Amino acid sequence: MKFVDWHYIIMKITLSIIKADIGSIGGHIKPSQKLLETVKNYIKKKGKKLIIDHYVGHTGDDIAILTTHRQGVLSQPIHKLCWQAFLEGTKVAKKQGLYGAGQDLLKETFSGNVKGMGPAVAELEFEERPAEPFLMFAADKTEPGAFNLPLYLSFADPMYNPGLMLSPQIKKGFKWVIMDVAYTKADKVITLVSPEDSYDIAALLRDNGRFVVEAIYSRESEERIVSVSTTRLHNIAGRYVGKDDPVMLARTQRDFPATGEILAPYTIGHYVAGFMRGSHTGPLMPVKKNSSISFFDGPPVVNCLAFCVRNGKMTEPADVFDHPYWDWVRDKVSQKAEEIRKQGFSGAAMLPMSELEYTGIVETLKKLEKRFKIRK
Ligand code: 13P
Ligand code: 13P
Ligand code: MG
Ligand code: MG
Repeated sequence: MKFVDWHYIIMKITLSIIKADIGSIGGHIKPSQKLLETVKNYIKKKGKKLIIDHYVGHTGDDIAILTTHRQGVLSQPIHKLCWQAFLEGTKVAKKQGLYGAGQDLLKETFSGNVKGMGPAVAELEFEERPAEPFLMFAADKTEPGAFNLPLYLSFADPMYNPGLMLSPQIKKGFKWVIMDVAYTKADKVITLVSPEDSYDIAALLRDNGRFVVEAIYSRESEERIVSVSTTRLHNIAGRYVGKDDPVMLARTQRDFPATGEILAPYTIGHYVAGFMRGSHTGPLMPVKKNSSISFFDGPPVVNCLAFCVRNGKMTEPADVFDHPYWDWVRDKVSQKAEEIRKQGFSGAAMLPMSELEYTGIVETLKKLEKRFKIRK
């Protein structure tokens, strides 16, 4: 063992992404520059002794704080640092008259970690490999289940992941932890393995609003590869307060799927929940970093930044959807958005009642119910 290597062998590193909508210019479009800078400066200043590195960016109206540190997952000081940064930002958002200032900060007092308080969280703790590439995904105007299909295709379908045929390590398959987010009293999870359980995994993952991939592990090394946020804002607030715009972390290469295998499914622009008022179906558009929102408060967007990390220090991000190929995808996805928007509120264009029951339509239906007559 070389001297330079032992440090990384014993010291685990944690990647934490904590994301919240704390206010936006002109509706639900994007945070102001001042707001972003406030959050960034707070993390830089107050996190000096706590974190090793950080990156702050936005996807639509959501600000994501990525930190690297050695505090482990669900670390109180790390979560508190981000919570305080969002509170500091909210003050600025209010001063600037931004829309939805503090939108995702649903609790008054901080207790332990930000889970169940509004912000979305995804974390990975691991021993760094000699080369440690990872991807940070952030989506806006959609929900955590938006990652279900891409993850299934990247980890269980050789049509999207040739590694399942070509790599002996990847061929061993993966362990999936899937959460039933409709159960609100506690975390309700199931563990399944692919390829053996892949039809059962599909049976759950088809329902993006209820069953959400929380984590994926390698069966070769037992390491955690993927973490997805699983917040359901309306379950916390009891009313519509925006969609649960999710974040995801995924380590790539070697024993894990290649970066390109993780990205391939985003060519589909599959239809997800979260377009306009979080109440419509729209295609998921892969966008460049720090993109805003426009058409019909959408379409649902996802951005992805690739990094490498060594001893907790990150490289600059590579903006993976900033490439001519994805320009063509974006055109195609715009056409898919156009097609579904042509049918307005009808049928599949709008979400089912189970998703709308936190909105005003409940009152309307209650009033109308009284006016129905049963014919004799
Ligand atoms: P390289 O040969 O460029 O390392 O690529 C390997 C790979 O992972 C391709 O998906
Ligand atoms: P956000 O969840 O991104 O704030 O969007 C809210 C909305 O309803 C837009 O129409
Ligand atoms: Mg918003
Ligand atoms: Mg948002």
